[in-house]
Formats: sequence, C-alpha cells, structure tokens
Amino acid sequence: MKNCACLRMNEAATGMSKKRYEEVAEAVAGRIRQGMYAVGDRIPGTRDLVEHFSVSVSTIMAAQRLLERQGWVEARPRSGYYVRRRNQEGAAEGGAALPKVTGFESAPTLVDTQQTIMSLVQATQSPRGMNFAMAAPATQFLPAAAMEKAFRAALRESGEEIEAYSFPPGALRLREAIVQRMKDAWCDLEPDDILITNGCHEALTLALRAVTQPGDVVAVESPTYFGLLQVIDALGLKALEIPADPKSGLSLEALQLALEQWPVKACVAMPNFSNPLGCLMPDERKEQLVRLLEVRGVPLIENDIYGELGFSGLRPRAAKSYDRAGGVLYCSSFSKSIAPGLRVGWMAPGRWLPQVGYLKFASTLACPSLPQMAVAHYLAQADFDRHLRRMRHEFAVHVERMTTAVLRHFPPGVRVSQPAGGFVLWVELAEGRDTVALYRKALAAGVSIAPGTLFSGDGDKYRHCLRLNCAAPWTAEAEDAIRQLGGWLRAG
Ligand SMILES: Cc1ncc(COP(=O)(O)O)c(C=O)c1O
Repeated sequence: MKNCACLRMNEAATGMSKKRYEEVAEAVAGRIRQGMYAVGDRIPGTRDLVEHFSVSVSTIMAAQRLLERQGWVEARPRSGYYVRRRNQEGAAEGGAALPKVTGFESAPTLVDTQQTIMSLVQATQSPRGMNFAMAAPATQFLPAAAMEKAFRAALRESGEEIEAYSFPPGALRLREAIVQRMKDAWCDLEPDDILITNGCHEALTLALRAVTQPGDVVAVESPTYFGLLQVIDALGLKALEIPADPKSGLSLEALQLALEQWPVKACVAMPNFSNPLGCLMPDERKEQLVRLLEVRGVPLIENDIYGELGFSGLRPRAAKSYDRAGGVLYCSSFSKSIAPGLRVGWMAPGRWLPQVGYLKFASTLACPSLPQMAVAHYLAQADFDRHLRRMRHEFAVHVERMTTAVLRHFPPGVRVSQPAGGFVLWVELAEGRDTVALYRKALAAGVSIAPGTLFSGDGDKYRHCLRLNCAAPWTAEAEDAIRQLGGWLRAG
C-alpha cells in the first residue's frame, strides 16, 4: 500500500486513550497535515487501511466518517475518499488553521533583538532542561558512528591536507562532493563555483557583506530566521520585512511592491522549507523570484540549509538552478543533516565569488581542514543518502507528534504551521498573548522556547507567536513540557 510506513509512524504518535477509529483518523489526518496527501488526492482505500492498521472494516468506516466530519476528506460515490480543500482561515473541527500572513505595511527597520538572543543562547547551553528553542537536531538524529569512521579515514588518508591551511575556496575533495549533491537540486556547478565556509551563518554573512554597504536595505521574509536578523544588525543594515505565506513562502507580489518603493540592495529567502514556517515555494514561483530580482540587478541570497530535509523525500529544486546571470548567492551547510558542531557550510556565490573569497580570507583566513575532509569522506559513501532518508522520516514523525501535542494542550484557536520539511513548528496564539513572558516562565522551569519577537526586527509583530524545535527526543517529559506550556497559556 502506498505510504504505509508513514501511516505507521503517525499511528505511533497518537494518544493511547483514544478509541481505535480515532487513532486511525488521527494518523491519516497527520499525513494530510504534512502535505503527503495533497488536496484532491485519494487516500488509501478501506481494504488497504484494514490491512495496514489490522482493524475491522467497521473501525475504518468510522475513521473515514470522522475524517469527513472533521473536514479532512470528502467521499466520492463508488470512488473513495479524497483530500478536501480546507478553509485555512477558520479551522475545521479537529484540525488546525495555518498562521495568518502579516500585512505589508513595513518600512525598513534596524534590528534589535540582541539581549533576548544571547539569553536564549546561554539557556540552551545547559545540558539539563528541554530545548525547544534552538533549531538543532538532538544527537540521536545525527550519524555519529559513521562520522567517527569518516574522521578516522580522513586522518589516515588525508594527513598532509589536514595539517595545511585550507585557504578559500576550501578543500577540493569536499567541493567535488558538494557539486555532485547539488545536481539533485538541479544545480549544474563546477567545484570552482563553490566556497567552503564556517557553517551557513558565515555564508550568509559573507554574502551580505559582498553585496551591501552599512545603511543599505535588505528584503527578508517575515517571519524569518533570527540569526539572519543578527547579521543584518551586526552589519548596520536595515531589514525590510516581506510577508511570507505559510504554504508557499515569500510573497512575490509584496516583494515587487517593495522593490518599487525602496532602494533594496539584496533579498534573502529560504524557498525550501523556510525557518520558521517550513513552507516550500513552488518551482514556478522560485523562477519568478529569480527573474524579478534579476531584471532589477538585485542579488538573491538563497538559504537552502533545509533543502535536503523535505518530508516527501523529493529533493526540491533550488532557486539557484534558475540563475542565468550569476546573481544568486546560494548558501547552505551540513549543520542540520550531519552535525552543527562541525561548522562545515558552503556557498555558490555566482558572479560574487571573487569578492566573497577575498572577504572570507580577510576575516578568517581558512576553514578548519579536518572537518572538511571528514565530511568529504562521509559523503563518498552511500550511507549519507540512507541517513537522510531515515532523518526525514524521523523529523516528519516528530513534527507530527509536536503538532498533535500543541493542538491537544494549547488553548483553543491556536494556529500551527504545516511544515513540508525541516523540523521546526511555528505556533500562533491569539493576538495579545505574550510569548516573551511565556519564554521567561518556561526558562525558569527548564524549558526553552523561541519567542516570536526574535523572528522580526519589529519587536511586537510576532509577540503572540513562538517557534518549537521538534528535533528533540520525544519523551514523556517532552510531552509534559508542552502540556505545562499549554497550562500556563490557558491560565494566563
Ligand atoms: C535558516 C538557518 N540558516 C542558517 C543557520 C545557521 O547554520 P549553521 O549552523 O550552518 O551556521 C540556521 C541554524 O539554525 C538556520 O536555521
């Protein structure tokens, strides 16, 4: 049966006290929520579901009726059940609405979230406590044993290279391996097009430094990854926040207006599984985005750090693949897929390569050689693709578990994102709720969350929102922590 394994994972995520038909309905709804069955798709038929869940026909029929009542599916006579277009504004019974798209009324702003960020960073250094704040996979998801072998192989086979400086553009063997992987994102590059960096964060920094001057305006998605706002702040730039749709990402219509109105010097976007919304921009919109900026000579800084972590298993195309004029500065890293502590990232900066290479050299001289060679050795094995398959599946399960727990424990009316990849969940509470206060209360109890204020230069825009890292071990304590967060919200 199609997608059996994924149904099984959602089944495991459901509550024990539920009736069997409710569990089945919840597992199927989870798949729809994750976008694995799209609107108009036929869900597996009665016989398949009976076989898969090992339950009676009447249990499956009850589950189908429940899914229909909840608005997930509609019955088509003599054909089966099909995924319905849901009203995302008001959630159908039993499901959740998507977060709202913010209006576009902003002017470029200076960013000031330094204090909250640094307290968050310190809080998550603690080995105890529940880390739902930082978007970093827990060690259980990482290929530790395979990397240990890769480090040994690197030391054994690449000794001389490891001892030497690895000046820009970085280790050739690694750049060759990256070029191969980028073919899956439809990018046809040469090793000489690639520059190795100290993680994606350095790639973003170098890209912004190459294409802007202090005081310049940079268009960013709203909400956006807070590390990017930090870089914008540190470089004395101004962020112009462009609304992002929780399904399709950056609004091109709003971006066009912004380009007409403001002297935008660069645009930073995450077309594949953005952080924090987890949305996937359709390919035709990626192409439109590249063309829109190309005709105005505005560089696009593409952050594709989650590109290989889509739940459907299909590696989406990068916007870079539509780049004809070398105006896309592609940035990524292995922080989400292998280990953040390696600090191995890369960029394909197009026609900006000479400037970026010089800035890299001038700021940090070289990247550490050993992690580069270890990653190169690891990528040479088939194991990486197997690991990615497992990881995507695990992340989909964990996002689903977190979504179920949030919907169960948070106050009614909560809206949640429906990530198509990555491992973070964006949660929107009723207007007026204060997630900074919640953050402080939770931190005192050993639970860290990322308050929504971090995801915008305008401190208050997302005060009623928060982001949860789902790549943490899902234990009874984790669910208790979500219940506790919900309890505080219900009480307050
Ligand atoms: C969207 C995004 N970009 C960049 C980074 C930083 O990546 P790296 O650890 O490779 O520097 C993160 C880390 O959370 C991220 O979520």
